[in-house]
Amino acid sequence: MTNPPSSASGSHSETAATADGSQNQVPWWRRAITYQVYIRSFADSNGDGTGDVNGLRSKLPYLRDLGVDAIWINPWYASPLADGGYDVADYRNIAEQYGTLADAEALISEAHDHGIKVIVDVVPNHTSEQHAWFVEAKSSPPGHPSRNRYHIRPGQGADSEQPPTNWTSVFGGPAWTRLPDGEWYLHLFAPEQPDMNWEHPEVRQEFLDVLTFWLDRGADGFRVDVAHGIVKDMTFPDMAETTEVLVSNTYDNHPHWDRDGIHEIIRTWRSLLNTYDGDRMMVAEAWVRPERLPLYLRPDEYHQSFNFDLLEAEWSAGVFSTIIDKAVAAAADVGSTPTWVLSNHDVMREATRYGLPAGTDWRRWPATGPAEDLNVGLGQRRARAAALVVLGLPGSTYVYQGEELGLPEAWDLPEEVLDDPVWERSNHTQKGRDGCRVPIPWAKDGPSLGFGDGDPWLPQPAGWSGFSAEAQAGQPDSTLELYRRAIALRRTLGAADEDLELLDPTQHGLNEAESAEVLMYRRGSGLTCMVNFGSAPVTVPASTETELVRSGGIAGTPLDPDTAVWFTA
Ligand code: NOJ
Repeated sequence: MTNPPSSASGSHSETAATADGSQNQVPWWRRAITYQVYIRSFADSNGDGTGDVNGLRSKLPYLRDLGVDAIWINPWYASPLADGGYDVADYRNIAEQYGTLADAEALISEAHDHGIKVIVDVVPNHTSEQHAWFVEAKSSPPGHPSRNRYHIRPGQGADSEQPPTNWTSVFGGPAWTRLPDGEWYLHLFAPEQPDMNWEHPEVRQEFLDVLTFWLDRGADGFRVDVAHGIVKDMTFPDMAETTEVLVSNTYDNHPHWDRDGIHEIIRTWRSLLNTYDGDRMMVAEAWVRPERLPLYLRPDEYHQSFNFDLLEAEWSAGVFSTIIDKAVAAAADVGSTPTWVLSNHDVMREATRYGLPAGTDWRRWPATGPAEDLNVGLGQRRARAAALVVLGLPGSTYVYQGEELGLPEAWDLPEEVLDDPVWERSNHTQKGRDGCRVPIPWAKDGPSLGFGDGDPWLPQPAGWSGFSAEAQAGQPDSTLELYRRAIALRRTLGAADEDLELLDPTQHGLNEAESAEVLMYRRGSGLTCMVNFGSAPVTVPASTETELVRSGGIAGTPLDPDTAVWFTA
């Protein structure tokens, strides 16, 4: 196996001074800001209304100027896009709509030239129904060996008319679909996404080869989709209770989530990554019980796992502090660093989420939104404050495209344009995830606000011109400039240490009542973040000179509600 010069990865590790004065190489991912690119909606270079690799290439200077360390690109493989590309037809090729393999290779190399790492999405739980393996399995008779790469089985009942188990799909409805010959195949997601059988040696070897393929092309890391789902209970028991959720929280010995057999597979992946230079990494999308997560982060398994606690958290000083405290401790226990995520392509954008009345269940994207009582300004203010929370913390922060523009959820997409399988599978009771996947507005004017020359695959809501990167660039009060400034400050002040101390605001001039509504932390470098979750302004224990950046209001004055500030202390 050869490591290509294009990996360019080793150059990005930072050197940090330790307490005894020695120098340590710190793997880049421990402190990275990783920008998530939903490629379909990022930038369209050829006017077909769909984002593509060359569009992304053209925006690399923007990402460099934003100051991110890495990009994670949602699946870009050949795919019929039944689930936005999480239905992969060929893991070694790029979707026609997105470009060519040569474009992808050029992207990786150019990103490296800009000092940006590239994390590729790997989808090991399921393929597309159009993957050559499934096409073969489907067209072969029952009992044919090609069927063993998937979970294809007879059903229950005399004529096999009932599915093999009562398991449900995460997108709604049964997790089994019947083939014309009477057998059933398992799909924990859409029917277009058959689950692979990870007991099959060819499946295991195939993924080692796929990882090798992308490592050899310079990929610096992998985001692993549904990392907790790949191994199934091969006795296929019925479940006592079924729920359409990704989490194994309430169920012991779950038949398809978080099974022990996952770990031996991940060890083989980690061994492979370890043979490459440049701190190649893997980050798991693993929805498991908090006490089980460390198992995934053992030194011979994943480097990191997404922590979705903040993304799911209500707007509360106490909740945020507890999550931060726990996450930092948990990561330290396993020698990893915490990860921070406010949003991604699967959830309602935080600028909208935070403007909903407390207690609203936003997780299922109600078809009836927007809520009349949605408070747009409040959501925007809180999202800006939350940005300073996560950009100031130690560890890795993942920023979803458009977060830096303060984009809201596009609530009112017309039903006829909805593309997310959730819409159909929920019998039109849930709008699904399209509202957070609308193409990025780059320019103030033009048919798709600079996204491309054609009609974008999802329409941009009226009034998005003001959210465009062009409208915000250079405007000191804009969300884009807030992100740029904070990321630049983090590089100089926050990135060089992994220390964090949660501060008691009563020790910094606030009374008990105020303190209960304030989050305050300090990094080893002195970078201090203070957030006011309450309803009245609070005094900032810093002089105007030591203040670095605020998410709103005027430096040197009390901190407004729903606002954050950084200062040195
Ligand atoms: C998690 C991905 O983030 C989501 O977008 C996708 O639908 C499912 N996994 C299935 O691959």
